Amino acid sequence: MTLNIDQLLTELTLEEKASLTSGSSFWYTAPVERLGIPRIMVSDGPHGLRAQPGEGDHVGLGGSLPATCFPTASAVASAWNPALLSRIGQALAQEARACNLSVILGPGINMKRSPLCGRNFEYFSEDPFLAGELAVGIVGGIQSRGVGTSVKHYAANNQETDRLRVDAQVDERTLREIYLPAFERVVKAEQPWTVMCSYNKVNGQSASENSWLLTTVLREEFGFEGLVVSDWGAVYHRVPALRAGLDLEMPPALGRSPEAVVAAVQAGEVKSEVLDARVRKVLELVAKGMPVLDLDESFDPEAHHALAREAAAESVVLLKNDGLLPLPVDASIAVIGEFARTPRFQGAGSSQVTPTRVDVLLDELRAVYGDVPFAAGYGVGETVDDEALLAEAERVAGSADTVVMTIGLPGADESEGFDRTHLDLPANQLAALRAVAAVNPNVVVVLVNGSTVVLGDVTVHAKALVEAWLGGQAAGGAIADVLTGAVNPSGRLAETIPHRLEDNSSYFNFPGDSQVVRYGEGIFIGYRGYDKASQEVAFPFGFGLSYTSFTLSDLTVTTRGSVAEGTFGAQVRVTVTNTGTVDGAEVVQVYVQDVDSTVARPVRELKGFAKVSLPAGSSESVSIELDQRAFAFWSVEQGRWAVEAGDFVIGVGANSRDLPLTETVTVEAPRLAVPLSRDSTLQEWMNDPTGRDLIEKEIANGQSAAAMDEELLGVIGNMPMSTLASFGGMSLDHDSLDRVAAAWREQVQVS
Ligand code: GLC
Repeated sequence: MTLNIDQLLTELTLEEKASLTSGSSFWYTAPVERLGIPRIMVSDGPHGLRAQPGEGDHVGLGGSLPATCFPTASAVASAWNPALLSRIGQALAQEARACNLSVILGPGINMKRSPLCGRNFEYFSEDPFLAGELAVGIVGGIQSRGVGTSVKHYAANNQETDRLRVDAQVDERTLREIYLPAFERVVKAEQPWTVMCSYNKVNGQSASENSWLLTTVLREEFGFEGLVVSDWGAVYHRVPALRAGLDLEMPPALGRSPEAVVAAVQAGEVKSEVLDARVRKVLELVAKGMPVLDLDESFDPEAHHALAREAAAESVVLLKNDGLLPLPVDASIAVIGEFARTPRFQGAGSSQVTPTRVDVLLDELRAVYGDVPFAAGYGVGETVDDEALLAEAERVAGSADTVVMTIGLPGADESEGFDRTHLDLPANQLAALRAVAAVNPNVVVVLVNGSTVVLGDVTVHAKALVEAWLGGQAAGGAIADVLTGAVNPSGRLAETIPHRLEDNSSYFNFPGDSQVVRYGEGIFIGYRGYDKASQEVAFPFGFGLSYTSFTLSDLTVTTRGSVAEGTFGAQVRVTVTNTGTVDGAEVVQVYVQDVDSTVARPVRELKGFAKVSLPAGSSESVSIELDQRAFAFWSVEQGRWAVEAGDFVIGVGANSRDLPLTETVTVEAPRLAVPLSRDSTLQEWMNDPTGRDLIEKEIANGQSAAAMDEELLGVIGNMPMSTLASFGGMSLDHDSLDRVAAAWREQVQVS
């Protein structure tokens, strides 16, 4: 069962072609029965299917078929394990096949520019390299089972505030180095069936009509071969969007968009070849999606639940442990916190799943430790302390040796559609923690939240602290597995936990106002910002503890190839040793620092990692490859990725601020000739050896420019040569400046 697309393009009428560039309903593409073109179904979401049998909605208000709710993106990203993501992807695909669903609308790979973004629970990280590697894992897993994906939201959709209208004003270097790389990585590695364009504008133009984004970058530079689908309702003008490269509008604007397309073609405003190119992408998608239409398959909910539990446990990040964990099997414990009884395991909005079942942490702990006492301690969604609940919590806390206390964000705090305005945990929960700790200092705090929170004195009151994120339907069992030691935690932070919201680099420019948000921090988001500002943080990017301990040794860095030929790279080898008494897994992280850069660069950037499982007492040598891109920055002047000659420090360690092993490599690279012109400054001419020679011959009667008073150069060095030529006095007039500029171009062969 397939389609002869070339043949169909000759047989489809104009009206039929136009109809194909819109959906037929909320979750379906348009059929053309006359020619045997079926409709295929698409559906959310990134961590579990939200297949809606009837008329759909895009914000999770309506119900959906039961499906396995896996850990949300911010949780599973903490596992730093693309292979795990692949397994989850395969399970998601099996559930899609079971309901004849062709495309899963995920993963979401937008950067966490601000910790306030309401959808951060749906996104992987503040780091594009990590997000890209994880996206490759889940997209590869899903598509390996003949189901498509929709990598979203392309691009610069980093807030919910005014998301359909806001204009994200982002300089090109920041787009290239921060907001596009994860899309580039997964497109080049896995060719996702679709990419979903975002609602917002990017530098003044809606993503759905942005031909630079959709065609120049995505298709021509990244080599994307699939279909571009709009976010639901993100097409504001169908014909400009069609021209820009948007293949499929969802949901359809029936009675309006197809008619507009027909009229535009008839009026000669859109060439028929452009329409055919869009229709071809739709037909290619339908052809890929058709095989699942006739499947009669099912999935094993218990097996998928077990995978969800394994994934959620691997996502838990152990932030502090003064010896309380793991809890001995005969421990005397009390459980406090409403979230232990009423699980918080996913975020609200289009990603919201109807789970097949839900583990309850209190039940899971009682299955191990007997009928342990419980107290709610606080009301979820309440803003004031409840004296009775506090008193009950104090009583229960005093009845056991150790307290396990869950605190976190109410579901109403994190959702698609709005952003948080602060990073604080609810005051009534903090009051309950203080009250409990005052009665019993042996407190294990379990955090359940979709994106980072300010911990404040939580870390003081907690003798042990785990971040469990939104771990999906099996989170209760997973957390119990970590607390009992059945699973040795190996999660690592995929987003920094700051001391204060104000410390985050986007603080002054989030969420913007008057429908404009300026990415004033540029490339310095997340740990890049905290490191550049030498800002202390509560817990750094990449941080996570274990019930065992690890050491790294014997670092070697072997470079290869040449920058000039685009083949430069390095092999990083290091030995990891489990020096403790418990089997465990370490995430070896490799950060690159450009020491000699002539442009502002982050202090360090994650460019490689490997998760290594090691039995107690064993060692393993790990090899991590760095390609040329790992050393490069986006040169705006050159309009390309560039590596500058000089020293680079390769740092290897357990997190971004714990890199005990370093190696400096000196990289040879062609000089980055900044194209000099009349409008280049005197300093730019002086920095360029050829330019300096030419200038010396023209000014000061051939005296060495070095004779030019340094102080003077400091004053006029930033002035364009064309301005200086007007001033005279340097024996450099406009004619001689033209001669010098022409000579430079000739000698440096710059077009
Ligand atoms: C929503 C979301 C997108 C989702 C789509 C369909 O508004 O932005 O992530 O896939 O619409 O529900």
